[in-house]
Amino acid sequence: MKLLIIGASSFLGNHLYDFFQGKKDFSTFGTYFKNKTKSDFLYFDALNKDQVSSTLSELRPDHIIVLSGNKNLKQCELDYEKAYSLNFCPAKNVAEAVSENNLKSRIIFFSSDYVFEGSKGYYSDSDECFPKTNYGKTKLLAETFLLKSPVRMKILRTSAVMGKGGLFFEWLISALKKEKRLSMFTNVFFTPTPINFLCEGIDFLVSRFDEIEQKVIHLVGELRLNRFEFAKICQINLGNFNTLLEPAMEDTSTSLFKHDLSMIQSEILKNFQKESFETYLRSVTDAFKA
Ligand SMILES: NC(=O)c1ccc[n+]([C@@H]2O[C@H](COP(=O)([O-])OP(=O)(O)OC[C@H]3O[C@@H](n4cnc5c(N)ncnc54)[C@H](OP(=O)(O)O)[C@@H]3O)[C@@H](O)[C@H]2O)c1
Repeated sequence: MKLLIIGASSFLGNHLYDFFQGKKDFSTFGTYFKNKTKSDFLYFDALNKDQVSSTLSELRPDHIIVLSGNKNLKQCELDYEKAYSLNFCPAKNVAEAVSENNLKSRIIFFSSDYVFEGSKGYYSDSDECFPKTNYGKTKLLAETFLLKSPVRMKILRTSAVMGKGGLFFEWLISALKKEKRLSMFTNVFFTPTPINFLCEGIDFLVSRFDEIEQKVIHLVGELRLNRFEFAKICQINLGNFNTLLEPAMEDTSTSLFKHDLSMIQSEILKNFQKESFETYLRSVTDAFKA
């Protein structure tokens, strides 16, 4: 099976590329735009329609994973055009290239918990979306476009992926190793998703793509936690208790952080999960034990 990862140079892309490279059934291709993090990655500008079309018609992948985007909430809030071009156009250009070139490629598009409003939490894959940020709004535009397009596709919503290379996770682990005190929000809830669990979930989806009718899928860890609780679990995993964790409150009425963006895993994914959230996270945290 030929798999093309668009945005393989991203945090998630690097992990997914390594994961699928290790699988004998897959011939995996990865693209980069500015950061050639692996020597065999192909240069690819997802905003250049001609390049998207020529690359896809040449490679003719069975599966395409679209990761290109801009998840920086602040940047997206300050510049809607930038948010729109990076979170909407790659999905649109890829879907149009697949359909215009009569390709059989199946598309998995990475969307986000930010398509939800963020006050009630426990969002299911059938809940109505009501994004409050430019990031969420432009991801939802891409979702809506794909749902109306004739291509075979899945919208994959995930949240707060934890692993090596993840900004929040690396910051937290480093703070837990060196800070004496660390304040963490108790009123900001989410469903953190260990990267190893995410890779297995994508593998499950790719291998059963045609059997699964559902188009919108929530692939997240099974625990709704606040940031303080999450930091506690990481601290236990690290076995380093020199940092005093202090509860703090965020003013979610003014902040880009939402009170509760937690999502419920899609039923369809319940069968593949081999380990608990804690076990997946422990193995991710083990890589940081000095
Ligand atoms: N990380 C999470 O916890 C999380 C949660 C939910 C959803 N997501 C979604 O999953 C995707 C990957 O997330 P991430 O955290 O791994 O992203 P990331 O590290 O911020 O990487 C962004 C990617 O977009 C690529 N890109 C930027 N401009 C491009 C262009 N013009 N053409 C092609 N590619 C371009 C970048 O390539 P270069 O670096 O080579 O320039 C990079 O590969 C994003 O769409 C994000 O919204 C992530």
